[in-house]
Amino acid sequence: MKYIYKSILVIFLAFTATACFNKKKGPNYQYFPDMYESPSYETYGEYEIFPDGQSALSPAENTIPRGWEVYEYANDRNGQKAAAENLKNPLPFTERNVNKGGQLYDVYCAICHGFGGDGNGPLAEREKFMGIPGFDDPNRDMSEGNIFHVMYYGLNNMGSYAHQTTTKERWQIVHYVQTLKDELNGEDKREFEKDTLLNRDNFDVEINPNHKTRMALKNQN
Ligand code: HEC
Repeated sequence: MKYIYKSILVIFLAFTATACFNKKKGPNYQYFPDMYESPSYETYGEYEIFPDGQSALSPAENTIPRGWEVYEYANDRNGQKAAAENLKNPLPFTERNVNKGGQLYDVYCAICHGFGGDGNGPLAEREKFMGIPGFDDPNRDMSEGNIFHVMYYGLNNMGSYAHQTTTKERWQIVHYVQTLKDELNGEDKREFEKDTLLNRDNFDVEINPNHKTRMALKNQN
């Protein structure tokens, strides 16, 4: 038995010892050479072969990233009015959506508008920002389209949230802001819609090419 072990050891050592030697002074045989000499380019590497001299290319003109869509309303009074009239929240009023909207609201909006939406957030109390409205302000348009539009572009002292939030997240916040508005106005709680697989999946179908809105705008111009 011992003899077998010994001979296996000797054969093994002979193999490993010879494996590194090569009579021709070139590289050894590479098993899967692609693993050593990667044909791919490094993500942010500089390479002359690319138009800008680097592998990180700019997006092709007139394209948008997957999951984004073009916002069709202009950042002016007319655009805001059109958005307020035509834009509808594509998300069902489910507990999930409203709660998610609430979490996002607390992160992004409460610092100014207050956790209850009365316009007395910490920054208002410290007088860092003036003129922050409560959501029960009767002079404010609290339609879903307007809230979305204001989040998208910002409004005077209020910044844009188009980059911190996705479209879906903004619509979730819209739902929550409207519940705050109802609460402040002492209105009855709106009943939640049932969360079903269908209305969860519906979102992308409905929001993507928002055909109806696009048509409405086209007919207006
Ligand atoms: C830096 C403070 C600040 C933050 C943060 C902020 N807002 Fe505002 N918001 C304002 C001010 C100031 C106005 C009033 C702008 C004006 O009319 O000049 C305003 C106005 C509004 C209005 C009324 C728009 C109208 O047409 O009159 C809505 C709705 C609103 N904000 C929602 C939000 C939401 C939702 C968020 C979070 C995504 C948010 N705000 C974050 C300061 C803020």
